[in-house]
Amino acid sequence: MTPIRKPLVEEYRPKNLNTILLPRDLKDTIRRWYENHHLPLCLLILGPPGTGKTSLAKIIASMFLGRDISDTIESSDFLFYNASNERGINFARMLDEYAKVPSKRMRIVLLDEADQMTSEAMGVLRATIEQNNSVFFILTGNNDQAFTDAIKSRATIFVLNSLPVDEVVKKVLAVCAEKNIKMSENIARKIVEYYDVDMRRILNDCIERLLFLDREVKESDVEWVYATTEEALARECYDLLKDSHFAAMKKYLDQASKTKIDPLKFVRAFLTVCDKGLKYIAKCESRIKQGCSPVVQISAMFYSVRGEMK
Ligand SMILES: Nc1ncnc2c1ncn2[C@@H]1O[C@H](COP(=O)(O)OP(=O)(O)O)[C@@H](O)[C@H]1O
Ligand SMILES: [Mg+2]
Repeated sequence: MTPIRKPLVEEYRPKNLNTILLPRDLKDTIRRWYENHHLPLCLLILGPPGTGKTSLAKIIASMFLGRDISDTIESSDFLFYNASNERGINFARMLDEYAKVPSKRMRIVLLDEADQMTSEAMGVLRATIEQNNSVFFILTGNNDQAFTDAIKSRATIFVLNSLPVDEVVKKVLAVCAEKNIKMSENIARKIVEYYDVDMRRILNDCIERLLFLDREVKESDVEWVYATTEEALARECYDLLKDSHFAAMKKYLDQASKTKIDPLKFVRAFLTVCDKGLKYIAKCESRIKQGCSPVVQISAMFYSVRGEMK
């Protein structure tokens, strides 16, 4: 019988301000709020994946409610919703009803990945934030653009930046040591770079695979990290593009079918090797971000950039 266990991200989620990596000024601000029993009615925590947004939101909620809420989804003074919950207007109305229930106690609603909410739902949420004074909202999200101006102008906004590579390498080595995984600093650094310093992906996708390996981790144990990188592929495609658009595209498709290529990373890497048609590269990046097909956009980018080369 397999015992139930927490995922590594939960096991290694920082639980207080001392253990989370965060710029000093943000920590000082939170401590000052806490000492003065003050929390903004709406705190919006923005930043790239794996920078500690959810962890920070939970730490703040735990501090202000005076108990560890990290495993709580719903209690009389705390509600936690993540992106898998409904995010439309009915959801926002339900929150509004909750906020209207009279209460003398502080209540906190944590809307994790709130950038998934519809704009109608944000409209209702804005009114809820404005019209109540006992429910405090903590919102997190990667995508700044998804939040309406009305919400942003009513929120205190913390922006978390990518974590320092050295710190994350240290953390990876510490987690590995605790889990009896022997790993050299070089391999740890390569892993951190491959995963774009996203600690959540490092734990979920990499460390989980290495658990119970009872010898030192070799490069071949993490071969995907050493496989063709977006940077190397971008250079190869650029060279082939000088011959033809099809040759470059074929290379891209071949490689993408063999290894996991992140199209956005590829396009950004392409920018560093190509000095022509920058507006096409920019257009390609923005369209992929909007949800257009990466293959079609990269093909169009190759075609237009090649046009500029002639
Ligand atoms: N600022 C940080 N300080 C310490 N650990 C972090 C930090 N950011 C991320 N982590 C690690 O990565 C995991 C995921 O963090 P999380 O708060 O879920 O990130 P986000 O919500 O920004 O995607 C955590 O369990 C923790 O191990
Ligand atoms: Mg999160």
